[in-house]
Amino acid sequence: MAGLPKAELHVHLKGTVEPADMFAFAARNDVRLPWASQRALVAAYDYTGLDAFLTLYWQGCQALCTRADFYDLTLAYLRRAAQNGIVRAEMFFSPQNFLPRGIALADQLGGIGEAIKDADAEWGIRGEVIIVAQRHRSESEALDLLSLLRPHRDRLLGVGLGGPEIGNPPGKFARFFSAARQQGYRLTAHAGEEGPASYVREALDVCRVERIDHGYTATAEPDLVRRFADDGIALTMCPLSNLRLRIVDDLAAYPLPMLLDAGVLVTLNSDDPPYFGGYLNANYEAVGRSLALTREALAQIARNGFTGSFAPAGDIAAGVAAVDAYLEGPQDS
Ligand code: HPA
Ligand code: ZN
Repeated sequence: MAGLPKAELHVHLKGTVEPADMFAFAARNDVRLPWASQRALVAAYDYTGLDAFLTLYWQGCQALCTRADFYDLTLAYLRRAAQNGIVRAEMFFSPQNFLPRGIALADQLGGIGEAIKDADAEWGIRGEVIIVAQRHRSESEALDLLSLLRPHRDRLLGVGLGGPEIGNPPGKFARFFSAARQQGYRLTAHAGEEGPASYVREALDVCRVERIDHGYTATAEPDLVRRFADDGIALTMCPLSNLRLRIVDDLAAYPLPMLLDAGVLVTLNSDDPPYFGGYLNANYEAVGRSLALTREALAQIARNGFTGSFAPAGDIAAGVAAVDAYLEGPQDS
């Protein structure tokens, strides 16, 4: 199903940096990384949980400094995304990693925006940006970020929430989400990755987000599963990430069949591909194999990617139609 047209809804741009590129960025910016070699970095891709991953991931961000870095990073991801059959990518980006180092927001978003334009021209892939507030920081910092984003509002799709989940419930950002909604941003939040199902309820009830990033722990609660299905709330699930972060032990028990049966808009995504061992097709392959999913189940997940996206209705319909057309075309397997 590698060539199946897909949308990716949960991928962190700075989490797409390949080891070789990270070392190249560090060298050209004269930044010293904490790993002696690419091999040492890859050996460190072994985490006890979300916090351990985030520590390493934020160290890697130190290599990114200039507008050219953000351009190259984004173009490299979109190239790989296109190779994975992705035609629409809604990419997370958190300026809060870079603002304290004096890297101008205009350079961050300018580099990303330029790459989005070039990737569309080159490979016909549509890239969009969702700004992520970091949940371990204060809500007032998130509100300051929203003000800083004002001049760039036109080129941004939505806002989300990421970072260390436990102890930082979504309700901490109620005013942030309310202000973002008033400015027309689409809303999403990481919830139910390591945190309890109650955080997912809070994201829906208090922050009024339109979809849930991960949502894994909520899948054990039948009332929430029914609500996702009834209200068309998509879950952006990331199996290889969940495996590496020890959210799950074995993908053979991953709740995809149950969610599909319940009519939930469950989607597959890569989160931070090099850090978790695979891009989007590797995530499809891993669950397809572990759960013996049918071709139709995988196709439904791909349709859900478009239906659960923040694209205009016409683009959603075109994405779903492209999945159907692909299935009717010459078989690749
Ligand atoms: N969870 C929370 N924050 C993140 C993640 C994640 O999986 N990846 C990058 N930032
Ligand atoms: Zn994530």
